[in-house]
Amino acid sequence: MKILVTGAAGFIGFHTTQKLINDGHQVIGIDNQNGYYDPALKTARLNQLQALEGFTFYPMDIADEAAVHKLEADHSDIEIIIHLAAQAGVRYSIENPQSYVQSNLVGHANMLELARHLHEKGHLKHFVYASSSSVYGANKKTPFSVEDVVRSPVSFYAATKAANELMSQSYAHLYRLPATGLRFFTVYGPYGRPDMAYFSFTKAILEGKPITVFNNGDMRRDFTWIDDIVDGVTAVMNFAPTGDAFHTIAGAPHRVFNLGNNKAEKLLDFIETIEKALGKTTQKIMADMAAGDVKETFADITAAQEIFGYNPKTPISKGIPAFVEWYKDFYQ
Ligand SMILES: NC(=O)c1ccc[n+]([C@@H]2O[C@H](COP(=O)([O-])OP(=O)(O)OC[C@H]3O[C@@H](n4cnc5c(N)ncnc54)[C@H](O)[C@@H]3O)[C@@H](O)[C@H]2O)c1
Repeated sequence: MKILVTGAAGFIGFHTTQKLINDGHQVIGIDNQNGYYDPALKTARLNQLQALEGFTFYPMDIADEAAVHKLEADHSDIEIIIHLAAQAGVRYSIENPQSYVQSNLVGHANMLELARHLHEKGHLKHFVYASSSSVYGANKKTPFSVEDVVRSPVSFYAATKAANELMSQSYAHLYRLPATGLRFFTVYGPYGRPDMAYFSFTKAILEGKPITVFNNGDMRRDFTWIDDIVDGVTAVMNFAPTGDAFHTIAGAPHRVFNLGNNKAEKLLDFIETIEKALGKTTQKIMADMAAGDVKETFADITAAQEIFGYNPKTPISKGIPAFVEWYKDFYQ
């Protein structure tokens, strides 16, 4: 199949593209390789993808309507869109909300328009897009279920992801565009994101620097290994909602799923796992809760298990040492 992956130079986009090409698909990748974090990491991922047969790259911004039109003209036979490009990060959205407006709202609207056109031409079967566990915001009930009401974002990032779900619902309702939103829960692994705690903690511990532990360590996160996420993304793409199936929203062909590990790890246990893998400990500076953060994330993955057989298999005791091994090798 011909598949468009947005954010192909990003962490999840890179791994997803590799798997799709290994499975024999043709991938059109797009990314603007912005400087939110070290672009060298994006280039390193991209260099690997560009060596693969079946990969075509467009350096472009999804908020640029003219560039999206050109892509549409060049590849009107795309069958699946996996839309992962976004301005990620909770804390950065407090300093720089405008970049979230461009990439996550304008960009998402442009991707929906592209999907609508390709669907109307009879080619596109499914629009799959990244949402986030952050949409659960201030919800207290755990584990978080896709049946829960999500109306209490505590960061602007979360608000844009919740908006993406509503925007997609309206396109599914109006244009019968089959769409699936994936609420990812703290994804980690090789070639991961340097702005995330597991990455920056690993770096700091190796360099003998202290780490800041928010909410005095009283936090839990559902950590999901990248390969489990990629298996989920590449499985769900073959399950386009029809509008009358289980878990479809208000009769429109749109569903959302949690992709987590279904285990809420204590932050301090998680730090200890990193220290063990590195064979080194470090000083912990205890701090208050950071603005925009939530205390706990914990995914109920029942719907994903039932509908497309999602089955995360990697505990942090296995995933963290594998990440640490990659980190040492890559940065040596
Ligand atoms: N990694 C996680 O734990 C996690 C958790 C929840 C949700 N998500 C979501 O999953 C998706 C992928 O996340 P990731 O961790 O791979 O992040 P990432 O930042 O590594 O990847 C996103 C990619 O999109 C590109 N991009 C951003 N804005 C763009 C634009 N306007 N035009 C073109 N390209 C653009 C970036 O350059 C980057 O390469 C994002 O939508 C993110 O919000 C990730």
